[in-house]
Amino acid sequence: MQFDKNLIEKLKESKSVVFFTGAGISAESGIPTFRGKDGIWNKLKPEELANFDSFLKNPELIWEWYSHRKKIIHESKPNAGHIAIAEAQNIFTEVTVVTQNIDNLHRRAGSKTVYELHGNIERNYCIKCKTFYSEELDFSKGVPKCKCGGLIRPDVVWFGEYLPEDQFDAAEKAARTCDVFFIVGTSAVVYPAASLVFIAKQNGAYLVEVNIEKTEISEIVDLSFYEPSGKILSELMKDIRTSQTT
Ligand code: APR
Repeated sequence: MQFDKNLIEKLKESKSVVFFTGAGISAESGIPTFRGKDGIWNKLKPEELANFDSFLKNPELIWEWYSHRKKIIHESKPNAGHIAIAEAQNIFTEVTVVTQNIDNLHRRAGSKTVYELHGNIERNYCIKCKTFYSEELDFSKGVPKCKCGGLIRPDVVWFGEYLPEDQFDAAEKAARTCDVFFIVGTSAVVYPAASLVFIAKQNGAYLVEVNIEKTEISEIVDLSFYEPSGKILSELMKDIRTSQTT
């Protein structure tokens, strides 16, 4: 694919680049997205599965759901999109990944600076004493319990819950100070995560959207690619590298 010369020049001049990602970047790894044609939320109710009150009412059901998702995630691998973003660390001075995904695939691909706005499925904590558990949990006696007797839950952000402040603050700073802000594989309908797009725009970042279809924020971006992120991001990094050596 031949990329617009201005984009390549713009990127070559850029020091700080942010990749704001959603479920779409992991779709090519076989992890279903939430919305769109085969989205999870078309079949299952988020208010039943991604909500604290439902967890208290029926922790077995919620754990069954997260164990199922964890199995899919463990059987998947970072794809060309995750790998291209990790590769960008060798091209730009500063690369920040801000993800809504809980699948840990950016880190598995080698990205170093990753802010997780919605948590990480590999971590868990006790709802009573907040002790963290990152090892495999024991389900032999039913839903996992903490040594204090409290229920253990996955360290993911459910609807109606606050985002981890340290992660959001760092993400907001990156959005305010970056030269280029990529928006990859997100429908950009979930807030406050999606507000980062507007923060980047207001602070003069060049906005590039990569999605297989138009989204809520397509009107405000500087450039859009409506193709799978694995293809676009890997070809783009290759093009920049080539232009740096010629
Ligand atoms: N390449 C690029 N984009 C893709 C691809 C792909 N291969 N496949 C799908 N997409 C796009 C879809 O067109 C859609 O716009 O990815 C987007 C996925 O959107 P959602 O399913 O809404 O996921 P996301 O935006 O990450 O959801 C935000 O909602 O359910 C909560 O906590 C959950 O973090 C999640 C949040």
